[in-house]
Amino acid sequence: MAVQTTRTVEELEAYCTRLRAAGLDAPWSRPGPLIPPKPTATQPRHWRWPDIEPLLRESSEFLSPHRGAERRVLRLHNPGVPERTVAHSLVLAIQYLLPGEVAPAHRHSPTAIRFMLHGEGAFTTVDNQKCAMKPGDLVLTPGMAWHDHGNEGGAPVYWMDILDWQIVRFLENLTFEPYPDEQQPALRNPGRDIYFPWSEAYAALLRRAEQAPDPFDDTLLEYIDPESGSSLRPTVGCYLQLLRPRARTRAHRETSCAVYRVVQGRGVTTVDDQTFEWEPGDFFVVPPRARHAHANVGTEPAVLFTAQDVPLLKLLRLYRMEPAD
Ligand SMILES: [Fe+2]
Ligand SMILES: [Fe+2]
Repeated sequence: MAVQTTRTVEELEAYCTRLRAAGLDAPWSRPGPLIPPKPTATQPRHWRWPDIEPLLRESSEFLSPHRGAERRVLRLHNPGVPERTVAHSLVLAIQYLLPGEVAPAHRHSPTAIRFMLHGEGAFTTVDNQKCAMKPGDLVLTPGMAWHDHGNEGGAPVYWMDILDWQIVRFLENLTFEPYPDEQQPALRNPGRDIYFPWSEAYAALLRRAEQAPDPFDDTLLEYIDPESGSSLRPTVGCYLQLLRPRARTRAHRETSCAVYRVVQGRGVTTVDDQTFEWEPGDFFVVPPRARHAHANVGTEPAVLFTAQDVPLLKLLRLYRMEPAD
């Protein structure tokens, strides 16, 4: 106890005992700073699609989606995060459905954002709005919206789920509720606030790419709620990024965290002292404050889908970006 005091160490210890009994604490009675630094749990990590895909397919031999287990998902597990999620603030899972399978309807307080990866015939019904999911389509399931999934095609389908579950959990507001039936009726066409078709998003990305490139991201386009003009959710934003052939961005650091899925193209992203050589289907994560830069090493445009906790950090006035050349 490195404390300047007119009392003895023994008297201080007795005082601390009386503090504890009263439900109080004197942080100055222990060594170290008042606000100790906290290392980032999320580590830079790269997942290659050829490593994931066979394990994803095999998962169907162990579990069928049903009430209780609810979903056949594989979560990306960042080795630094005790809750086995992709990052401290975000969850990324890949959900796999065989032909004819249904993932039963339920709702929960965390928001989920689906980005369709592969297959024909997948759908998600959100509050009675049936959204057909073609590769590249994005479907938003806001917190407490009823949702079920199905595969009406003739071959397996899979998509990625992004959830703000970790944030809701930290705030101690996790809730979950099963729907009375396995599926909810489809009564309405999907609203533009929850359904973002790939054809429209990609066309908008190409239009944005006609503008001058951003030095740090080349071309970055955020999915926006059409009514409010805001990020999809206060906790998480989704973006499409285009890197022109041979493009090399400047390095920067952000206080936010980002998870990436490679939609098309080949490139290299450096994250602190690591180099990720990515190909279509790969995932990688950039932790807060990590120095990162992207390069397209191919002759075609590279496209990345990314989910980031930027909106939450901006709300909290914690978002910062700085060049790191
Ligand atoms: Fe769910
Ligand atoms: Fe960045």
